[in-house]
Amino acid sequence: MKKVSIIGAGNVGGTTAMRIAETGLASVVLIDTVENVACAKASDLEDARYSLGSDTRVEGSSDISRIDGSDIVVMTAGLPRKPGMTREDLLVKNAEIMTNVCIGIAEYAKDAILIVVSNPLDVMTYLAFKKTGFPRERVFGMGVNLDTSRFANLISKKLFIGTEHIQALVIGSHGETMLPLPRLTKVRGKALTELLAAADVDSLVKQTRGRGAEIVSLYGSGSAYMAPSAAIFQLVETILTEHRRELPVSVVLDGEYGLYDVSIGVPAEINSRGVEKILEVDLSVEEKEAFLQSARSIQDSIKALNI
Ligand code: LAC
Repeated sequence: MKKVSIIGAGNVGGTTAMRIAETGLASVVLIDTVENVACAKASDLEDARYSLGSDTRVEGSSDISRIDGSDIVVMTAGLPRKPGMTREDLLVKNAEIMTNVCIGIAEYAKDAILIVVSNPLDVMTYLAFKKTGFPRERVFGMGVNLDTSRFANLISKKLFIGTEHIQALVIGSHGETMLPLPRLTKVRGKALTELLAAADVDSLVKQTRGRGAEIVSLYGSGSAYMAPSAAIFQLVETILTEHRRELPVSVVLDGEYGLYDVSIGVPAEINSRGVEKILEVDLSVEEKEAFLQSARSIQDSIKALNI
């Protein structure tokens, strides 16, 4: 049986555990410093096994050594945003948490694929890459595949068309400078820019960028977790079922797009080994400039942390 460990038993961690448990893809270990919450969610999930006809094992613990031998570790721990906060406002505190957890991951799950979810996502992915010493193929961030899913949903609602007819793409930082790409987003094979007036396209781009903050402000406390856990599950499923999928993730670049030593959202081929290949899409001059601007904003935060 494959094993997925989830660090952080909050809403994102708990919902991800539920998605995995319900499909029986892997046994799940939920780790949280608040042990009773990790244990409560694990017991609650296992109590559903009889009703659902599944037998997936879910364990809760505050002991990081329980991640021993995991195939995948999903790092969700960290403070979530409060209304009015950007993801970058979480930088210093979450970097401290991430650094501590990475020591445990390197010790107990050194062959795992690490999926980073904590914010600010791209900086945390870079930090995890540095602190675990894992090859970049095995450390990547879930951010722009969530943004891509949000973009596709908003397009589907605008055009009254099923999401299966949409191939959306968002790259760049999972933050204020994220880059939905309408020119490279296709609806039944046609570019979004050919289907909608420029003002409508701009509005969809803006809504996509602000979607996370919109949900934070509606909840009043905590951030989104249904779509984030679905985006994590998509990555976990791709890895464990040995399917090969093209999905945008945050990964450390080594010359791709002319960038080095920064983790940023780009389309990639994901398979059982993690990031098999980084795909370089043809960007227009303006898109390239916006992408580099996004990379600079991540590099600024990396510098601020002195990683
Ligand atoms: C969001 C958080 C998960 O975008 O970053 O909702």
